[in-house]
Amino acid sequence: MKRAPAHQPAAYADPLAGVLRPGQSVELLKALHILTRDGRLNQDSRRKLKQVYHLCNFIEPLIDEVLGRQDTLLLADHGAGKSYLGFILYDLYLKTRPGAQIVGIETRDELVEKSRELAARLGFGRMRFLDATVAESTRTDVLPDRFDIVTALHACNTATDDAIRFAFAKEARHIVLVPCCQAEVAAVLRRHKNASFGKTPLSEIWRHPIHTREFGSQLTNVLRCLQLEAHGYQVSVTELVGWEHSMKNELIVASHTGQPRGDARVRLAAILESLNLDELKPRFLD
Ligand SMILES: C[S@@+](CC[C@H](N)C(=O)[O-])C[C@H]1O[C@@H](n2cnc3c(N)ncnc32)[C@H](O)[C@@H]1O
Repeated sequence: MKRAPAHQPAAYADPLAGVLRPGQSVELLKALHILTRDGRLNQDSRRKLKQVYHLCNFIEPLIDEVLGRQDTLLLADHGAGKSYLGFILYDLYLKTRPGAQIVGIETRDELVEKSRELAARLGFGRMRFLDATVAESTRTDVLPDRFDIVTALHACNTATDDAIRFAFAKEARHIVLVPCCQAEVAAVLRRHKNASFGKTPLSEIWRHPIHTREFGSQLTNVLRCLQLEAHGYQVSVTELVGWEHSMKNELIVASHTGQPRGDARVRLAAILESLNLDELKPRFLD
């Protein structure tokens, strides 16, 4: 390897030192525009890579947990977009583990096609991509009946809820969600605002339009957590520190224990009732 002149600082000598992990594909990072074409890392991409690693740090122990119990692992990534999460997980943790497969699910066919091409170019033979909505992927018989890990990173609006339903249907052991914009609960709060004023002083919480949006968004994730707990998952909620979408940086990790939190379902129903959100009961309680 060519050495840097002695007067240059070490970081200058190898700008990727301490950034790339052993065996990591430089070609992948270039294809994902994390590295420039000539293999450099700028400030922006250094930050982006750190964020991706940060998220991967939460997922790695889940992968290890599954592969510690069995030889195979199936991971579904919903609303995959360019599939950079799936590609990085595969590159970092799965390419040397022959029983592991990733399926990226995405509605935009041009992104699915590009991901297929990239996986073929990199020789990532156990990555598949499905051009489908999350809901369609739950029903299709081209996918297996069971998945071990389900991820949904910034899957738009109710696609996160569809991913939760997919995980329930596929008896996923772990679910990792970074929810995106979520307008549905806010829309229901808004629609019933007048009736809610007469029903409960709690309606003050969402009286002003900006509060309707923000409270609706927070409430959505609270309801999702209770729903997961009611289905026997242990839930942890943290922040993806430094995540570029600062308003969408909540990370929900749920692991199946088979023991529903005793009062989760009752509390979920009570919250929907007190906030005049009965119409959402089928969505969260079924
Ligand atoms: C904000 S992007 C996130 C992409 C990627 N997960 C990431 O974090 O970079 C959301 C992606 O979800 C896809 N999407 C939206 N609704 C979907 C649905 N119901 N089923 C599958 N994909 C969906 C969009 O086409 C888009 O590519």
